Amino acid sequence: MKALLLAGGLGTRLRPLTEHLPKPMALVMGRPWLDHLIRHYRDQGISRFVIAVQHRKELIQAWVGDGSRYGVSVEYSEEKELLGTAGAVKNAEPLLGERFVVVNADTAHRIDLNAALRFHERHGGAATICLTRVEDPSSYGAVALGPQDEILDFVEKPDKDEAPSNLVNAGIYILERRVLDHIPAGRPASIEKETFPLLIRLGCGVFGHPLDGYWMDMGTQERYRQLHWDVLDGRFPLESGWQQRGDKNIRMGEHVRIAADALLIPPVVIGDRVTIGGRSIIGPYAVIGSDCRIGRGVRIAHSILWDNCRVHTGAQLNRCILGFGMRVGPHILHEAVCNRTGEMPR
Ligand code: GTP
Repeated sequence: MKALLLAGGLGTRLRPLTEHLPKPMALVMGRPWLDHLIRHYRDQGISRFVIAVQHRKELIQAWVGDGSRYGVSVEYSEEKELLGTAGAVKNAEPLLGERFVVVNADTAHRIDLNAALRFHERHGGAATICLTRVEDPSSYGAVALGPQDEILDFVEKPDKDEAPSNLVNAGIYILERRVLDHIPAGRPASIEKETFPLLIRLGCGVFGHPLDGYWMDMGTQERYRQLHWDVLDGRFPLESGWQQRGDKNIRMGEHVRIAADALLIPPVVIGDRVTIGGRSIIGPYAVIGSDCRIGRGVRIAHSILWDNCRVHTGAQLNRCILGFGMRVGPHILHEAVCNRTGEMPR
């Protein structure tokens, strides 16, 4: 069975980070999220992937290549123009088999794929939609579930009190090939708003499989930040390749140079070859990407820096996200989010 990863969207809500970068390539703990995702699905038994690409596709293709770096095979389904979540699935039709899993490549989650497949087989529908529980469904599409796990209805962005449940679409689907017959070719279409409601109306069998465990759609700056804090606090264990130092919640890469009088306040993560100048205070909640250079007397808290940033002596960053290679003068920045180019580290 192949996995189709939807990775072509513009990521408008996560701009400017996604101005020149596909959202699934946003770094999470020093690696593009897509990297974590492919590894997870590979570990769940998927060896053949199709990635549906459009916006800045060359960055995904350069990083993932043919998949051999992960020990899997990867093919690409390219869209000339954005076709939406259903159009992207239809466009990939020639590359898909009788049954396949579709994943929004911008959601951080863990799935027991075998359990989801058993659910799908047991119910025998055309589509299984994985669901996740959220506290407030009002910014998602909430689901009304029948007694046989059948999805009766989707209610888009319901008022909190009017939501049929707190179960929402997790953006992970197991689909039978016949679903493709219900998606128009060559024009944009939404799988959530068009295809699934149509399949339900036609009685094709659409079932909801609640997932246990962590789930986060990283589509906004707030959620993207929260994803990092969840990793730092241990709510979402994610491999970074950086080692825990001592018993404090401080992880560090290789060849890091930290001045003796700099202070790290956990939780903190520091990538490879980072330098931190004297009297700087880093943390709590700071992720410093590889090859960043932090000057003297700098304060960084509740912030995420991608690789290659330079932070000038005396700068203060609070709740900031800096993209690749950003330069910060001796300024005080609060909630600044910036990214210059789509350059990716190798
Ligand atoms: P916003 O512009 O902020 O809404 O983000 P988005 O459209 O990039 O992402 P959204 O959360 O709506 O989509 C979920 C997933 O589907 C993301 O991983 C997107 O990259 C992907 N996606 C969305 N639209 C398309 C599309 O037209 N083509 C392809 N190939 N993927 C898409």
